[in-house]
Amino acid sequence: MRFAAIKCFRESCPIQKIIVSLHRKYCAKAGCTANNYQMKTNMRQRLFCLFVLATILASCSGDKVKYRIGISQCSDDIWRDKQNAELRMGAYFHDNVELKFAAAYDSDERQVEQIDSLVNDGIDLLIVAPNQVQTISPAIDRAYDKGIPVIVFERKTSSQKHTAFISADNYEMGRVMGEYIVSRLHGQGTLLEIKGLEGSSPAIERHNGFMDAIKDAPGIKVVGSLQGDWTEPTAYERTKQWLANHKDVRVDLVFGANDRTAMGARRAFQLLTQSGEAGRGPLFCGIDGLPGENGGIQLVRDSLLDASYIYPTHGDQIIELAVNILEGKPYEKETLMMSALVTSDNAKVLLMQGEELMRQADRLDQLHHKADNYLHELDTQRIVNWLAIGIIALLIVIFVLFYLYHLRKISMQRERVVNTLWNMEQTLPQPLPVREGSEYSQDDNSAEELSTPLPHREGQGGGSAGGGSAEGASPFLSRFREAVEARLSDSDLSVDDLAADMNLSRVQLYRKVKAVTGSSPVELLRTARLNRAYQLLLTTDKSVSEVAYAVGFTAPSYFTKCFKEEYGMVPGDVRK
Ligand code: FRU
Repeated sequence: MRFAAIKCFRESCPIQKIIVSLHRKYCAKAGCTANNYQMKTNMRQRLFCLFVLATILASCSGDKVKYRIGISQCSDDIWRDKQNAELRMGAYFHDNVELKFAAAYDSDERQVEQIDSLVNDGIDLLIVAPNQVQTISPAIDRAYDKGIPVIVFERKTSSQKHTAFISADNYEMGRVMGEYIVSRLHGQGTLLEIKGLEGSSPAIERHNGFMDAIKDAPGIKVVGSLQGDWTEPTAYERTKQWLANHKDVRVDLVFGANDRTAMGARRAFQLLTQSGEAGRGPLFCGIDGLPGENGGIQLVRDSLLDASYIYPTHGDQIIELAVNILEGKPYEKETLMMSALVTSDNAKVLLMQGEELMRQADRLDQLHHKADNYLHELDTQRIVNWLAIGIIALLIVIFVLFYLYHLRKISMQRERVVNTLWNMEQTLPQPLPVREGSEYSQDDNSAEELSTPLPHREGQGGGSAGGGSAEGASPFLSRFREAVEARLSDSDLSVDDLAADMNLSRVQLYRKVKAVTGSSPVELLRTARLNRAYQLLLTTDKSVSEVAYAVGFTAPSYFTKCFKEEYGMVPGDVRK
């Protein structure tokens, strides 16, 4: 099974193909046999494992996300934009936090769907600003019941199923604004109220606070109360319509539940002013008091609004709360954020401060992007480094394995030479079948003589030059070996001499030896000399030159050359 899997991989993976082909090439050269197949397989498997390890290490270098926080915004406007930017900024300070944003664009159904899908996506914590008190609660409850911590912020739900609540005090904001308006109008005047979305908690609370503040001012009269739904266009349309229906009603001040609705109403009043239907326009007050371009603070500074109230966004604070909950640290179950009235007295200073803060936040953002880019580069660098380390390690392993193979080859060769040296006492290999019809098979010597081959190399019958005992060899070969043995150290020994020693002609000797061993007498003589030299190098302290002379070579350098050709190494290496 395991083999099948490896085989299957080997066929499909280019890296493994390279390893296999490299290995095959080496084995072809080294003459590996079936006996060391297991060793080769092991080597391939080891190389394969090494590659897998390097790949895993390289791919593990990326950062892991620890906490996934879902953020469900009921709406999408400049107040939410500012808050989302702060939420992101807050997340910068925590390496492993991932934020998932969803905006419902003032739709209850959409927000319910989005919360359910965030939960299904496996978020670890939900931050939610519910569009309306009643309608979103079931979805929030579902998330909470699944064990997901829930932070409700800024708008309330009807359920108590949340982990923490964070907001400014909307009732207090409405109340303070009411008090301001009473004092602004010196206790006398008419008001038009543009309320926030019916059913959303800030709309209800701001209205209640406002009404409580003005109820003790008998000179203040609310002449109209419209639904502005938090949006500028709705406030504009409703105010325009109201004005058309109340042409004779004087309005001294418009209180919008937020700055956008106050500005929508202002636009509607401007139409009348332009058409000359109204005299001096009323004052406009709102809530949100955002810094920056077209924010409430600027509108107050530029006298487009008479007053606003800062409705803090504090996204970074919400993220801190979320991380504390996720990390099991202590946290406030209910947090009330500080807030302040914006009037022409402080608008300039607040705007400057606000702009400075935004500038700093912008710088921080840029810094974060820079750091992010560096981190990306670092990640790429890390992967490249791991790959380089992997490749170097692989090369080292390949080198070591090849080196071990080489050593093993040498030791096997040494073993072979020692065990099959000329004149060694050992059993000859089984005879090869007689080559029938061979031109030498009908020679004046018997077939019996020819049937005992004396191969001089591996692959030519399983022995080496002169291998085998005199006992097992044919009489002819025994005589030939004796003749060679007797004069191995004689550098002048020629085939003619050997033939004469064996009472044969030169040609007869050549034919017989060639027919039986496949090698010529000269080749056998040379191999015998080299084998004897190998043996002497292994078993005596003789120098290379002494050995060369002892086996009939007249020049040690030529001996070294022949030795290297035969064994693939110089004589000096035999003893290493
Ligand atoms: C933003 C907003 C603010 C308002 C708040 C009330 O979406 O409409 O303008 O103060 O929500 O929840």
